[in-house]
Order: sequence, then structure tokens, then C-alpha cells
Amino acid sequence: MTSNSPNHDAGPVGLIRPEQGQISPLTPQQQKALTTRRRFLQATVGGSLAAIGVAFAFPVLALKAITQYSDVLTDGDVIGDAGSDTALDVATFAVNTGAYSGILGKSTQVKQNQLEVVRIAETGTADDFRAYSQICTHLGCAVLPTLNEQNNIHCPCHGSVFSSEDGSVIKGPAARALPSLPVALDDQGRLVVAGEYSGEV
Ligand code: FES
Repeated sequence: MTSNSPNHDAGPVGLIRPEQGQISPLTPQQQKALTTRRRFLQATVGGSLAAIGVAFAFPVLALKAITQYSDVLTDGDVIGDAGSDTALDVATFAVNTGAYSGILGKSTQVKQNQLEVVRIAETGTADDFRAYSQICTHLGCAVLPTLNEQNNIHCPCHGSVFSSEDGSVIKGPAARALPSLPVALDDQGRLVVAGEYSGEV
């Protein structure tokens, strides 16, 4: 190519007249066509991004709603044997014992539904029972279902001990009480949820 050869890479089509080597302004028709193409591309890209956002957002929001509102415990929920569909048998639940429990009909994947139920007395009232979160407030291990020799709740990971009467810390490293959940007996004698956790689970 000589120095007089036309430069076909000099710029956008319509701006350069290669044979003349100079920039030529677009005609009004060309400007209008260019503007229309730009708007079309902007609308197409914007619409695609919005569609992708909606496609991802709806399943996530729906899943979140199901998890938050269908499976989180509420007042009157029946406390049941973990892994079964039967209510906790309060009549045979011995004093100074503990057991993992859940909420009938609600997912055990929701951490608020993972309970440790303890019986501390035998008066025949709901006050005999305590329900706690299973999740240790130290680093999140599950506390043991059975009570230790002093009838308190023990975490196997780092040795924290919680009072079976009120969930308070007897021995660290946990620094915060095990969240407790108020319970009551319903008209069928089943142990049910009767309030909110005393702290964050
Ligand atoms: S997680 Fe329970 S003591 Fe550390």
C-alpha cells in the first residue's frame, strides 16, 4: 500500500469519504437512522437485562417467602418428636431428660424449628417443660439432646453448658443464653408454641 492508498479503517462508514480523505457530515436522514438504531439497541439490551433480573428474582423471592412465612413457627404450633409426625408425648416424657423436637408440619431445615425440649418438673402443667433452640450461641453447633450429669444442656463442640431451667450460660465459651421458646399445653394436652424466642436463634 502506498501513502496515497485510501485508508478504509479511518472511521465509521458515513463519516469518511475515503476517496477524498476527509470527514463528511451525515445527512439528516443518516443521522435519524443512526439515532433510531441506537435507541433500538439500548431498548433491546435494557429489556434483556430486566428480563434476566426478573427471571432470577422471582424464584429467590418466592423461596424466601415460603421459607419465612410457611415454615417459621407461630403460636399454637404443635411441638413434635423430631423426625416424626406425632406430637411430643408429654405423659411419658421423664423429668430431667431432654430430647430434640420439631414443629409438626414444618420444615426442620428452618433453624427456628430445631428445638431441644427439656422436662424439669412433674406438676402436670406446661411449666414442667422448657423449649430451647438446639443451636449453641457460641459457634452454632447443635447442643446434645440428652442432659449432662447435672441435668443441664451441654454443647459437645467446645464444652459450653446451659441451664436447663432458663437457658443461661453455666460454662463458656458461649457468652449468651440459649434462646428459649415459651410453651403451653393446648386443649388436647399437646405441648404448643406460645410466644417468641427470648433471643436471636
Ligand atoms: S459451638 Fe457450642 S461451645 Fe462452641
